[in-house]
Amino acid sequence: MKEKINSLLEVIEGLTANSKEDVENLRIKYLSKKGEITTLFNDFRSVPNEQKREIGQMLNQLREKAQNKINDLKEAFNQVQSSCDNEDLTRPGDPIALGTRHPLSIVKGQIIEIFSRLGFTVAEGPEVEDDWHVFEALNFPPEHPARDMQDTFFIEKMPDILLRTHTSSVQTRVMTEQKPPIRVLCPGRVYRNEAISYRAHCFFHQVEGLYIDENVSFADLKQALLYFAKEMFGEHTQIRLRPSYFPFTEPSAEMDISCHICGGKGCPFCKNTGWVEILGCGMVDPNVLESCGIDSKKYTGYAFGMGVERITNLKYRVKDLRMFSENDVRFLDQFKESF
Ligand code: DAH
Repeated sequence: MKEKINSLLEVIEGLTANSKEDVENLRIKYLSKKGEITTLFNDFRSVPNEQKREIGQMLNQLREKAQNKINDLKEAFNQVQSSCDNEDLTRPGDPIALGTRHPLSIVKGQIIEIFSRLGFTVAEGPEVEDDWHVFEALNFPPEHPARDMQDTFFIEKMPDILLRTHTSSVQTRVMTEQKPPIRVLCPGRVYRNEAISYRAHCFFHQVEGLYIDENVSFADLKQALLYFAKEMFGEHTQIRLRPSYFPFTEPSAEMDISCHICGGKGCPFCKNTGWVEILGCGMVDPNVLESCGIDSKKYTGYAFGMGVERITNLKYRVKDLRMFSENDVRFLDQFKESF
């Protein structure tokens, strides 16, 4: 009897089935009224009393193993069945969601494209810079507020190393590394120690322009900027230049464009002035040319710098600056058709 039970145990452990019917046949073969295991239980009556306890336990174990095995096999077929029930295998695959270009990249690309028609090429520089490239060479006096901890992120323990606060630092790099004529556009990310809100962020993007050659004049600057404004905001766009101050340009100006929302008539967007500010510009200060090793008696140049977020806001009227860095696809998806 013991041998029979042990050999049946081995057989049960190795059971396999190819279909639900196979499983049912196995159940009948071992566990039905006339099944092999049930028959053993019937034979149990003739087991001598002193062996009943041991053999009884073995039989119970065998029956339990067989039941579990058959349940497992049954379950396996049920699962295959149900996953097939839910799938339509002839269904076409889901389309792969295509990403979109970030609105700031779209606008940056447009700015570069427009100025490239005037012969500007792209130059880039590091975001982690030194004081000389960001401030010193650009004629910032030592007490200038932009050098303050309030505005600038300094790299810890290295007071001279900081995150650039404007892309004008790339001007410095280009002027020290190249000889005029120079005609570059410097796009990039800049950092300022600002509290984050809907209208300020601790990082944003700028595009800087620099043109240096013999006889470059303010009229050249104005012409290039007027061309840019019309290409970017439409044929009827007008510009105006207001005197301003930047340490690295003399004279300096800020440029407004006629409000493209109300056409200059006055609306809440332009605070009823008809104009919106878009960039800073001016003639490169001779001190800057000299600190970068360019002869200021021979060469003159103009520079301008604009915020990419600002231009993007004007084009697409994004009201909250934080949207640009949150990567919410519901926002980003809206720029699908723009390229
Ligand atoms: N660097 C200035 C800023 O971050 C922007 C700027 C103004 C750049 C005038 C220029 C310029 O090149 O000529 O606010």
